[in-house]
Amino acid sequence: MTLRTKLTLSVTALFAASLGILGYSLVRLETGYMTAESAREAQLIKNTVGRMARDALVQRDDLLLLSYIKFQREQSPALEFVSVEWHDGDRVRRHHIGERKTSRSEMDRTLRIEDPTDAKRKVVLTIGIDENVLGAAVRVQIARLQRDLARLFGIALLIGIVFSDWFARKITRPLAALSEVAGQIGRGKLGVRLEWDSKDEIGELVAGFNHMSVRLEELDAMKKDFVSAVTHELRSPLGAIESFLNLMEAKMDGGAPRDPAQFRTYFDRIKANVSRLSGFINDLLDVAKIERGKMECSLRPIRIQAVAGDVVQFFEAKAKEQGVTLQSRLDAATAPVHGDPERLRQVFVNLISNALKFTPRGGTIWVQGEQFREEGARWLEVSVVDTGKGMDQADMGRLFKKFEQGKNSATRVAGHHGTGLGLVIVKSIVEAHGGKVSVKSQVGKGTQFLFNVKMV
Ligand SMILES: Nc1ncnc2c1ncn2[C@@H]1O[C@H](COP(=O)(O)OP(=O)(O)OP(=O)(O)O)[C@@H](O)[C@H]1O
Ligand SMILES: [Mg+2]
Repeated sequence: MTLRTKLTLSVTALFAASLGILGYSLVRLETGYMTAESAREAQLIKNTVGRMARDALVQRDDLLLLSYIKFQREQSPALEFVSVEWHDGDRVRRHHIGERKTSRSEMDRTLRIEDPTDAKRKVVLTIGIDENVLGAAVRVQIARLQRDLARLFGIALLIGIVFSDWFARKITRPLAALSEVAGQIGRGKLGVRLEWDSKDEIGELVAGFNHMSVRLEELDAMKKDFVSAVTHELRSPLGAIESFLNLMEAKMDGGAPRDPAQFRTYFDRIKANVSRLSGFINDLLDVAKIERGKMECSLRPIRIQAVAGDVVQFFEAKAKEQGVTLQSRLDAATAPVHGDPERLRQVFVNLISNALKFTPRGGTIWVQGEQFREEGARWLEVSVVDTGKGMDQADMGRLFKKFEQGKNSATRVAGHHGTGLGLVIVKSIVEAHGGKVSVKSQVGKGTQFLFNVKMV
């Protein structure tokens, strides 16, 4: 059974149940009211007959009472019979008007009326009122009410069915459209959107779905970029190693005079490519550690300026070759910080190698530090600043997500394409030190990456 049919049936059933309860309550109410009316009418007949009997007794006119009763019987068909007993001392006379029909349900009421002027005289009246006649009007009324209600019920049910079908269709239409779009996504058409403008839960669902579809498309693009970046990161150093090894082999096999200087160059190139490969694998392993929540740092008092100085020295030759000035402006007298020197080295390597990628000839890259106090603790805010190409807001939003790279990556001035893991590792190491990473950048002006570490 489709959702639409289920919804239609449920709403109609609810509608019918409410109408049924309403109708039943109305009939009950009306019946109660009419029954009370019948009882009141019966009482009225009895009172009228009683009053007549008193008048006739006072006027000592028995015939008057009999003609009163006959007249009353003509007026009230429910008055079936009246049996009259005149008591005058021990003398009793009886007269019956009308006949008791035992098959019918009747209410007998006895009335005893005394002559106020003569205590020996009294009239005892037995009044038979036919309940069926009294109730006939009630039954007719109730039957009419039931007929009217049934008609109304039919019309309302029809309207209910039409309304619930319209309602069910309104609710299920976007779901059907969503399922169609989901099918398209399933068939690999990522990024498709459903145009639906409503301010309710369905609108929210469609907006969430559209967001998911766009995100899936982005993730797919990212996956493709990642695969090509990883392939590139693996293939290019491996290719370089292979070609240098082939060259060395050819030189050795050809019996050419060995040139130690050239062999040294080949050897250095092979070493550099091996370290690029191992660096990439280490990055992958670090990210796997981060994913498992196991980025461990063993903190101890260290001189961070020494770590920064080492890394600057390591990159000096490369910077020089690129025509970029690289310096550490950290004060030699900076007090020690709580840190893991190996992990902080990794932070500087990532930030400085990034800065080198985006700083063209003539630019400057430097490391600086500033102390500040927060909640009673002393912190050192370290920055790696460059005067390079910078990045826009959109790129800044991608920075700390794994395998995500900025669009500016394509315009880098040096270095490898990379895989978008460096800053994820930086962030996780800084957080393991209790600090935070942030970035300031302006396209064409440069970038500043900041992180803080606690001072001893
Ligand atoms: N100094 C910088 N100037 C401009 N853009 C930068 C700078 N540093 C990082 N970025 C941007 O941030 C992105 C992510 O940097 P991240 O270090 O995480 O990855 P990557 O350098 O591309 O690759 P990997 O570090 O894994 O080799 C870069 O692709 C680049 O777009
Ligand atoms: Mg990097």
